Amino acid sequence: MRAHVVTYGCQMNEYDTHLVESQLVSLGADLVGSIDEADFVLVNTCAVRGKPVDKVRSLLGDLRRQKHERGLVVGMMGCLAQLEEGQQIARKFEVDVLLGPGSLLDIGAALESNGRFWGLHFKDELHDHIPPAPVGKLQAHLTIMRGCDHHCTYCIVPTTRGPQVSRTPQSILKELDGLLAAGVQEVTLLGQNVNAYGIDQGAKRAGIPSFAQLLRMVGQSGIRRVKFTTSHPMNFTEDVALAMAETPAVCEFVHLPVQSGSNAVLRRMAREYTRETYLEHIAQIRRHMPDAVLATDIIVGFPGETEEDFQATLDLYDAVGYDSAYMFIYSARPGTPSYRHFADLPREVKTERLQRLIVRQKEWSQRRNAGKVGTVQEVLLRGDAHESGFLEGHSRGHHPVVVPKAHGADRAGIYSVRIGHATPHMLYGQILGQGGQPLPELPRHAPEAAAVSSPLTMA
Ligand code: 5AD
Ligand code: SF4
Repeated sequence: MRAHVVTYGCQMNEYDTHLVESQLVSLGADLVGSIDEADFVLVNTCAVRGKPVDKVRSLLGDLRRQKHERGLVVGMMGCLAQLEEGQQIARKFEVDVLLGPGSLLDIGAALESNGRFWGLHFKDELHDHIPPAPVGKLQAHLTIMRGCDHHCTYCIVPTTRGPQVSRTPQSILKELDGLLAAGVQEVTLLGQNVNAYGIDQGAKRAGIPSFAQLLRMVGQSGIRRVKFTTSHPMNFTEDVALAMAETPAVCEFVHLPVQSGSNAVLRRMAREYTRETYLEHIAQIRRHMPDAVLATDIIVGFPGETEEDFQATLDLYDAVGYDSAYMFIYSARPGTPSYRHFADLPREVKTERLQRLIVRQKEWSQRRNAGKVGTVQEVLLRGDAHESGFLEGHSRGHHPVVVPKAHGADRAGIYSVRIGHATPHMLYGQILGQGGQPLPELPRHAPEAAAVSSPLTMA
């Protein structure tokens, strides 16, 4: 069988795609790089907003045609698969195999059943399952918990991914060992609510450590860099900030979704904090990590959001001065409390507010990034950038960085980079050295010498 998986949505979906792909390989499938080459296409879906659902719908329409024309087998996995809405879509587009986020390990049974398989059960085995390490990558994701015990009124995730379950530290550290052995240097710990790790009922009974303790354990494993996402402000306790500050491998990057700066809106969202308590969390993080890079998620146009509420969001943006933000227009998702109880705002109001927020975000990102010019950053360069002769990657603070290749530094690795130029979305710099060592001297009269010393287009 030639299989291809198309992935929409978050990093957890990317991790799940990797997990299912490795299952497919162990079942004897060949993974191919495109839909055209495949005889089985699996679509890993996202249900958090209407847009990704529309994308899935249009792809499935195309796949249904190929099913009739050339006998393609079509599967759907991920959050949408778990919902009645997704199952209706699956029926309409004649999907053969359907796997919810908790039944990914059923892929073999699904394929054996020769189509028409609906896997919607949450299987405990998933939490102990260790997918093989990715090959030839310096960065990897590691899911440490699944599901969410919060009930934000706009969010479909607690319905699709179920209540929170934390993996055992033994299983997490075993997976990490595999990543280390495969040469991974940066791991991102994943969870819908990653910093609530260890506080679900099952975890308490099983004596699972707190997130702060886990961070320290992971940080001592020998991995060079640790990041994590996504955090709920209420679970960002001081011990987490301290563990970050005291564990050198843990990067000083905090993604702390605020969603709104208005207390009235936060209350209707059931976010469990106020703007004041959120700002206290930020102050605490900055006390322990003065150089922390801060990112957030914001929803504009939540039902009932007034111009004054929106101004409070802009004002909070200024109060924090975020380095970056993911900004979304509120999307009314069937099955959520806000869909049931509140009327949606007009589209134009939401769009216009998003535009104003983006302007604010760009101003702050430009200001923050400009502050990095002249500094030396530790950058994990993943590989070639779009522009030939350049490498791209991320700093510890998760800024995207582009650098020209240099003598002795023309491939993926962790380098020290002097930042020379900044835009709101990117830092540009020059590689200075690797592992504390300067770059090797250029051989005299080396042909590259001219290229390296020629004026740079970007830095
Ligand atoms: N509408 C818009 N954005 C949403 N998010 C979650 N649900 C919705 C929704 N219904 C955003 C939140 C969350 C991010 C992953 O997606 O900002 O943090
Ligand atoms: Fe959704 Fe809120 Fe849980 Fe995040 S914390 S996954 S926004 S319910």
